[in-house]
Amino acid sequence: MDGPSDFLPADPAEIPSAPKAAITGTLYGVGMGPGDPDYLTVRAVRVLERAHHLVHFCKAGRRGNARTIADAVVQDPAREWALAYPYTTELPPDDPAYVAALSGFYDEAAACLAAELNAGRDVAILSEGDPFFYGSFMHLWRRLKDRFPVEVVPGVTGMSGCWTRAGTPITWGDDVLTVLPATLPHATLVARLSATDAAVVMKLGRHLPKVRAALAEAGLLARAVYVERGTMEGEHVVPLAEKPDDRAPYFSMVLVPGEGRRP
Ligand SMILES: C[S@@+](CC[C@H](N)C(=O)[O-])C[C@H]1O[C@@H](n2cnc3c(N)ncnc32)[C@H](O)[C@@H]1O
Repeated sequence: MDGPSDFLPADPAEIPSAPKAAITGTLYGVGMGPGDPDYLTVRAVRVLERAHHLVHFCKAGRRGNARTIADAVVQDPAREWALAYPYTTELPPDDPAYVAALSGFYDEAAACLAAELNAGRDVAILSEGDPFFYGSFMHLWRRLKDRFPVEVVPGVTGMSGCWTRAGTPITWGDDVLTVLPATLPHATLVARLSATDAAVVMKLGRHLPKVRAALAEAGLLARAVYVERGTMEGEHVVPLAEKPDDRAPYFSMVLVPGEGRRP
């Protein structure tokens, strides 16, 4: 796992305009939208332009997608601060070793950010989609929110970008929408899918065969649409029934559009 020194920018003292007074900085959770930088909000751009630190989560040795989206607005390595997860898909999320490593990682990151906030510097955490929707930002927010001023900048969610690019309205009339992580057990997926009008299934990865089977069991396979990298380079949209393989990258989801009232 990365040590505290890895979290810090090359030379924080060189960051211009950092206040010296004992006024704390603000923690921003910045929604970066679904991928296409044109979907950044005006507020997000304002915060990106002004924050002292631009923090993003990533896989070790890789650039995070949220940071890539920000390239359209700011390219400033001195403000960039990467937080590399100790694990991504190497261990199951309920493995005690995974939980302990992630918890330590967030504790350590929060302590480093707290030092910067205490020094009066504003810290922006770049979050894919919306920060409060399955966002890693929430784990830092939970640790810091009672000690520092916080502003969350909402973002266009990944699912919103995906159903827009798929050209499929997701809910009509009284349709009930259910959002499901593909990591749930097969039986739970079938039960939830059978009880809803419309669905979004996220975090597909290696779970796509299970999701495909659950959709078939719930009688929804014919309506399901697979969207990969919605609004990003490499976008791919196809009816799930016509997708010939079960490969699904991190940025992919299945949409089941509702069929509710259409006067
Ligand atoms: C940890 S969740 C983060 C969700 C994010 N906070 C949001 O508001 O969309 C990550 C999952 O979001 C989905 N996702 C987010 N953006 C996407 C995109 N542009 N295309 C396809 N799937 C996307 C994928 O299912 C991915 O596994």
